[in-house]
This record gives sequence, C-alpha cells and structure tokens, in this order.
Amino acid sequence: MKQTARQCRAEGREPLLVPTMGALHEGHLSLVRAAHADGGPVVVSIFVNPKQFGPKEDLEKYPRDLAQDRALLEREGVAYVFAPPTEEMYPPGFATHAEVDGLSTRLEGRERPGHFRGVATVVLKLLEIVRPARAYFGRKDAQQARLVQQMVWDLNVDTEIIVRPIVREPDGLALSSRNAYLSREERRAATVLYRALDGARRRIAEGERDAARILAGVRETIAKEPLAALDYAELASAETFEPVLFVRGAAYLLLAVRIGATRLIDNLFLEESAGLVITSL
Ligand code: PAJ
Repeated sequence: MKQTARQCRAEGREPLLVPTMGALHEGHLSLVRAAHADGGPVVVSIFVNPKQFGPKEDLEKYPRDLAQDRALLEREGVAYVFAPPTEEMYPPGFATHAEVDGLSTRLEGRERPGHFRGVATVVLKLLEIVRPARAYFGRKDAQQARLVQQMVWDLNVDTEIIVRPIVREPDGLALSSRNAYLSREERRAATVLYRALDGARRRIAEGERDAARILAGVRETIAKEPLAALDYAELASAETFEPVLFVRGAAYLLLAVRIGATRLIDNLFLEESAGLVITSL
C-alpha cells in the first residue's frame, strides 16, 4: 500500500483515504462519494481494529464480508481497497500507541476505556501508510472525528480531515454496521435515539437553551422505550467534549443507548450563526 500510494503521488495524483472497519453501508459510501467528488484516487481501508475493542466487546462477532464490500466499492469506482491482515498491522513486538489527552477520557472514552487509544493508533498508522491529502470521517462518530483532528494538528500530519453528515434510514435510525445485530423488535425500538434527538431539536427551535431541561426530555423519551437502556445523554462542547450548561456556540447532544445487547450511538450537532442555533441531525 505504501508503494502504491507513493507511486500515485509521484504521478501527481494525491490519494484520498476513507478508513472503515468494513460491513459497508450507505454511511460509508457517502464518505467514498465525497472523496470521489474531490478527485484523486480513493483508497478505502477495511480493517477491524482489535485495539479499539474492549475485552467484553464484539470484536469476534463484528460483521465481516470482504467479498461484498469489495463489490460495493468496485461499483463506486474506488481505486484501491486496503484490507491488511491483523498480523501485518500489529506484528509481534508492536509497542507504540497514540494517545490523545483529555478528549479520549470523556463520553465514549469514559464508557470504553482504551477505545480511543486504539482508534488513534490505527488511524495514525493508516495516515502514515497512505499519506493521503485528505481523510474522510462521519459525524456519526463525532468524538472520534474530533480526536483524529486533534491528533493530526498535534503531530503535524499532512492530511486534511473532512467530517461529513450522518446518513440515516428513512425512519431516522443512523446507519451502522452494528444495526445488523438488532432483532425485528429491537430494530423498531432503535428509532428511540432519533426520536429523542429530534424532540431535543424541536425544544431548541422553540427557544430552550438549558442543558438540564433538554437532557431531561431526552431521558424521558428513552425511558418510555422498554427495550432501551441509556448509557449517557450529554450536551458537550464540539471542541473539548466537556459538558456545557447552555446551548451556545458549537456543541453536540450525544447519546449512547443499549438496545438489548447492542450499543448504539447518535448525536445532534448544534451551531450558532448570527444568534440563531442551527441543528443538524
Ligand atoms: P466504521 O465504524 O466502519 O466507520 C467508518 C467511518 O464511517 C467513520 O468515519 C464513521 O463515522 C463513518 N460512518 C459510520 N456510520 C455512518 C453514518 N450513518 N453516516 C455517516 N458516516 C458514518 O469508525 C470506524 O469504522 C473506525 O473507528 C475507524 C475510524 C475505521 C478506525 O478503526
């Protein structure tokens, strides 16, 4: 992959990278299309990164279908699929990790110790291997995208980080490879994340700015869904991911909810412009 990417650069074609763990869906493909629209050969990496899974998480059962992923990417006209074996990414004796202070201890990092260390390490490796002009991330994993942005700034990595909106099912459920775990009943219940965020959006549009009151509404919606258990609901600064008390500036309303054994995350993005709060769901 390094050789191929080097060759592209030598020919004046800067590679663009979309990092994934496979089991590709329209969310991933929206990133691929954004890369294509920017021109340049698109590299999609497919690697289920063991370092970002906790000991009790779903590494073993995480969906894998390389043949189907390749077919999808071929149809999108992707130039290169990079799907390294685990031993190649982490050979015996591998010893170095990337750690982003602060950001990686909050929210997802607090609930999943070691998760962001694994993410930062693998993303830094992928950026070093491909050296892309741009790399594309989904706002679905808002904290991850922010963490990668911070790492790239701190370590002077020559890649521009592009963050794209969340792609949803018609009923609002954010696309995720983990949605495949849901039973029919659970799939129906899973729309509660969207319903809760949409309720918050409505409240904010009506002028509510108090985090405690907005979050109380969100918790109430989740509590009404018998198959759902709330991990966290927080209003956080889009920069530091520390909690904020009022809607002001750029912020996220972030949700992690368990539907049966499946843990789902989603968020509402809030921006302020000319005194108006703009929401993206
Ligand atoms: P994965 O979960 O496969 O997601 C790959 C990329 O697709 C991430 O940037 C994610 O935010 C984006 N994505 C997932 N669902 C989306 C949706 N519904 N709408 C828009 N974008 C979506 O995130 C990872 O893999 C890994 O942590 C990785 C960055 C590859 C490092 O291992």
